[in-house]
Amino acid sequence: MIVTVVSFKHITKRFNNAASNAINDVTFSIEEGEFVTIIGTSGCGKTTLLKMVNRLVDSDSGEIYINGINIKDTDPVKLRHNIGYVIQQSGLFPHMTVFENVAIVPKLLKWDKARIAKRVEELLNLVNLDYAEFHKRHPAELSGGQQQRVGLARALAVDPSILLLDEPFGAIDAINRVNLQNELLRIHRLQKDAGALRTYLFVTHDIHEALKLGTRTMVMHQGAIVQFDSPDNLTRQPAGDFVRALLSQEGVYTGAGEGI
Ligand SMILES: Nc1ncnc2c1ncn2[C@@H]1O[C@H](COP(=O)(O)OP(=O)(O)OP(=O)(O)O)[C@@H](O)[C@H]1O
Ligand SMILES: [Mg+2]
Repeated sequence: MIVTVVSFKHITKRFNNAASNAINDVTFSIEEGEFVTIIGTSGCGKTTLLKMVNRLVDSDSGEIYINGINIKDTDPVKLRHNIGYVIQQSGLFPHMTVFENVAIVPKLLKWDKARIAKRVEELLNLVNLDYAEFHKRHPAELSGGQQQRVGLARALAVDPSILLLDEPFGAIDAINRVNLQNELLRIHRLQKDAGALRTYLFVTHDIHEALKLGTRTMVMHQGAIVQFDSPDNLTRQPAGDFVRALLSQEGVYTGAGEGI
């Protein structure tokens, strides 16, 4: 059975005083269990699109449905409990330990202490961080890659049905990045094997990463979707010059604000 989890219908968003729309008449649907990767030039609207899914940004016009419900009719706080979010920087709270960072949402949901402790240990293992070694550390005592693992563990804490990942491995060296990619694929598969299909929206600037991880890849340009297709179809039949240019570059991203 195909279940539509995220559906955008003619979504447009213009920020105050902007000359053009950050999101311009965007329509698409994502099915349960998909791993969607999103790629496009800096400023093309990727982060804005993700933030519309969990209502950190509201649209000016159009409708967004999550699990069939118009998100205008949902309580944003409750909505977010079911949507994990890994922000563009790791976003860990510096004054909290690794344990406390990962436990934030379970605590908000008033899980009992034993359940929280068990879950945090399970999550740190899942992202390959040794519990004994890491749970008492503060973010400043972790490498960038370890911080991103903690960010991922935190987003997975209450097993949300939708996971939004905004360049989660952006600051990671090539070797650790490949390890994290493989771990994320493994987690997505584990969830599937457990009969709990989870839907991922993953923003990246790296075309290789986009094509490797995605069941489908969304290519954005100037607030619009230029192609949304399987990696195979994208490489075989790029829809126009922009996608062709994207595919022909080596996928080496040199930093925020410097294009793809
Ligand atoms: N809160 C805001 N207020 C005003 N303009 C904004 C705001 N957030 C984003 N924008 C603008 O909207 C456009 C899209 O921004 P967005 O952050 O979605 O881009 P992006 O594709 O995520 O870029 P990057 O790859 O650099 O992260 C940009 O022109 C940006 O300057
Ligand atoms: Mg962004």
